[in-house]
Formats: sequence, structure tokens, C-alpha cells
Amino acid sequence: MKHLTGISDLSDSDIRALLDQGHDYADALDRGDFRSDRLKGRVIVNMFLENSTRTRTSFEMAALRLSASLINWDAETSSLKKGESFSDTVRTLGAMHPDALVIRSAEYEAPHAVARIVECPVINAGDSWREHPTQALLDTLTLERHYKTRGLSGLTIAICGDVSHSRVAGSGMQIFSRLGAKVRVIAPPFLMPNKFPADGIETFTSLEEGLPGCDVVMMLRNQKERMNEDLIPGDAAFHRQYGLTHERLALANKNAVVMHPAPMNRGIEISDDVADDPQRSLIFTQMKNGVPARMAVLDLLVR
Ligand code: NCD
Repeated sequence: MKHLTGISDLSDSDIRALLDQGHDYADALDRGDFRSDRLKGRVIVNMFLENSTRTRTSFEMAALRLSASLINWDAETSSLKKGESFSDTVRTLGAMHPDALVIRSAEYEAPHAVARIVECPVINAGDSWREHPTQALLDTLTLERHYKTRGLSGLTIAICGDVSHSRVAGSGMQIFSRLGAKVRVIAPPFLMPNKFPADGIETFTSLEEGLPGCDVVMMLRNQKERMNEDLIPGDAAFHRQYGLTHERLALANKNAVVMHPAPMNRGIEISDDVADDPQRSLIFTQMKNGVPARMAVLDLLVR
């Protein structure tokens, strides 16, 4: 495997190897004595053309934890603003021979386009609404660590809200199904995808119908920047119908956990008290696990 453009690039054994390596890194980070020279002397370029807090910083943390250097290329101060084309910009970065390029872009299959231009491994850090494979890996790592298991069989996972614009859902549906979970999508009809990247996904149009029997409830932000028109009737109305509150969470299985890739829009898709519930919310644990999951990806791809 040279690049990571999506979960669909990975064989079952690649997925297992990445997760196992992620667990090892997570254990080492938890012990608090982590030092590794694994990528000493390597230089990685972060190329983010969309805003990011977690993904960009955790790729940087992952690179530094492995002793690589990392350049945060900045779109705002780049020559894209002088009219340079995207492909010339990528050619320029490629000409400097980085050891890996991490790309986030709103353009469909931008990682594929970059991989055709540069010689180094290309890692997808979020491609349009299509795939966000490192988020799916960190979400799976979080669930395996929470349930102290390898694989997700026996779990029913509901992905809820704006699924049609979500690359997190696009990658999550694939990895969760491949690891043996039952996957449900709960979305209003106007945010329900018309096709799915995995077989056997069950669909529901209300939380009341979809949550009973679920072990994991993953909420998503309304990604208005990807909507061509204003599909959402209003934030308050959305919360009343599709917001995750404790009352609704009680419909899921006892001890069901809550996930969210964040950024959260509190009071819209999720209430404050659910987001901050120390017993039920894994949201900040997901953020923590972004580092070891991305360390595993860099470890595998960067030589
Ligand atoms: C998401 C993204 O950018 O795809 N966040 C993330 O990477 N953790 C989800 C979102 O923007 O809503």
C-alpha cells in the first residue's frame, strides 16, 4: 500500500495491522514515556485547504511524536492566492521531495489527483463528502479500547444526522461493517444518502425508531458548507426533532456510548449535557486517539 485515499484502499489485514499498531502507540502514550526515532529525518507536509483543528494538529502531533518534522503549508498565504493552479502548487511541493503529503480538500478525490502528481505517499485527511479514513480508524480504535475487544462484532452502531454530506460517515460505514458491526443510519429524509458505501446498512428517519437496540450513537454536524441550498428548516427545529438529548439516549441500550467527530454544534445535533457526560460520551477520547491512529498510518506509509 503506497497511499491512503480511503478505507476502500485497505485490505482486511491492512486495517487490522493499522489498528494493532494504533493500540500499541496508544498504550505507549498512556504510559507517558513515549519516545521514538521511527521517522527521524523525515519531512511531512500538511496541506489543508479546509479548516481543521483536530485532524491537522493530530497529524502534526503524530509526526513529531515519531521524530519527523512537519510543515504546515498554509493556503491563505500561498501562491494559490496569486492565481497559481492547484496542480502547479502540488507539483511545487512535490518537487521538494517531502516524505509524505497529507491533504484535506473540499474537491472530490483530491487525494487521488495529488497522488498522480507527487512521488511520495499521499494521506487523505478529509476528501469532500467522500472519505475521511483516518477518522474512521481513530473511531474504531476508540471503540475497541472502550469495549476492550478487537473487532466490532456484536455492536450496533447508529450514525445520525447529516449523513449525506459526511465523509466521516462515508468511511465509518465501511470500516464498522467490515469489522462486524451492524450499522444503522438515522437521518431526516433530506439528509439521507441515496446510496451507501457498504451493504446491509439499515435506515431510519427518526431517532425514536432507530435508537432502540443501539450500543453506539454517533452524531454528526450539519455540514451547511457542503449543502447547495438551505436544507435545514432551522437550528432550533432541527434540535427538537433530531438533537441527541439524555431522554433520547435512554432509548438506546443501557450504557450506550456517544461519539461525534467534532466540531460539535452544541444545542443543535447534540445537547451540552450529553456531550459532556463523563459516563457516556467518548468524544474527547476520540480526539485523544487521533494521535496514535495517525502515528500508525505514518508509521506504515512513510519509509
Ligand atoms: C469532520 C471533518 O472535517 O470531516 N471533522 C473531523 O475531521 N474531525 C467533521 C465535520 O467537519 O463536521
